Amino acid sequence: RPYDPEAAFENTIARDQRIEPRDWMPDAYRATLVRQIAQHAHSEIIGMQPEGEWITRAPSLRRKAILFAKVQDEAGHGLYLYSAAETLGADRTELTERLIDGGQKYSSIFNYPTRTFADVGVIGWFVDGAAICNQVPLCRTSYGPYGRAMVRVCKEESFHQRQGYELLLTMMRGTDEQRAMVQDAVDRWWWPSLMMFGPPDDDSPNSARSMAWRIKRHSNDQLRQRFVDMTVPQAEKLGVTLPDPDLRWNDGRGHHDFSAPDWEELKRVVSGDGPCNAERIARRRAAHEEGAWVRRAAAAHADKRKARLRE
Ligand code: 3HC
Repeated sequence: RPYDPEAAFENTIARDQRIEPRDWMPDAYRATLVRQIAQHAHSEIIGMQPEGEWITRAPSLRRKAILFAKVQDEAGHGLYLYSAAETLGADRTELTERLIDGGQKYSSIFNYPTRTFADVGVIGWFVDGAAICNQVPLCRTSYGPYGRAMVRVCKEESFHQRQGYELLLTMMRGTDEQRAMVQDAVDRWWWPSLMMFGPPDDDSPNSARSMAWRIKRHSNDQLRQRFVDMTVPQAEKLGVTLPDPDLRWNDGRGHHDFSAPDWEELKRVVSGDGPCNAERIARRRAAHEEGAWVRRAAAAHADKRKARLRE
């Protein structure tokens, strides 16, 4: 029988094996992976801004060093993921231009302001905690380079989550004012963190195909539930209340019941109308323009080296 690339692709997915860059793949499989990996990379790079604002204002050298290391990790995750997107034939300059022009998305969570240093702790606890829930299954995604990139990223995310939680534990052992700062940050970041997992399953246009191709291993709602179940005991240990009066353990389900996030808010923030969207994109555009000379110099240096090797 002549080799049938489509059957080979379907067979590889059905056997829970990896699709590699040189394998045949449907155009739509390639396109949805470039879409998701590029937006994942954009999220990491934009995600450097909210916390980065606190590097110069951290309360101690130790906190500054930890925050600096974390923001550097996010940059590395972004570059890792742009490299994974390039294995699919994407070009990172073009992806960056699409981010800046609004042609591609980044996670809604990074469009909220970081008002106090407690926000740095809550971002570590909630946002990196949510990232772990979302990224651990992605270590087993069907596209090889993406899954392998996730293994390294997840190791660093657990440091991000733990440093945030430890920061909050320290503040909760401090003054009433510090405890109030932590509770205020929890109140502001809880609902946007639940929205990070995406719209509800019955309003998630990409999920069915992503699940069929084993790109996505669990649905948006399943991972959101996993995050809520993981976070409730941590909130109790910390001594903060999560801002949802309907949040309670449901013995019958073996999970916590919780209220639905405001999906209209998610739609507004994703479409550009969040508190910090304009500022985040303006900063990214400025960084890209100010860095143009570095890219030109690196390209000229690479050309010179190639010319020398040809001599
Ligand atoms: N913010 C922005 N856009 C969102 C979103 C959010 N919170 N949730 C969903 N969307 C977008 C989707 O990208 C899609 O738009 P598109 O078709 O133009 O790409 C649309 O809303 C519909 O959502 P779907 O559920 O149909 O889309 P997906 O199947 O792609 O699921 C996802 C969305 C769960 C975010 C999935 O893309 C995913 O798992 N991505 C990889 C992880 C990721 O990007 N995480 C973002 C947070 S950054 C991070 O975790 C790093 C850490 O350091 C903080």
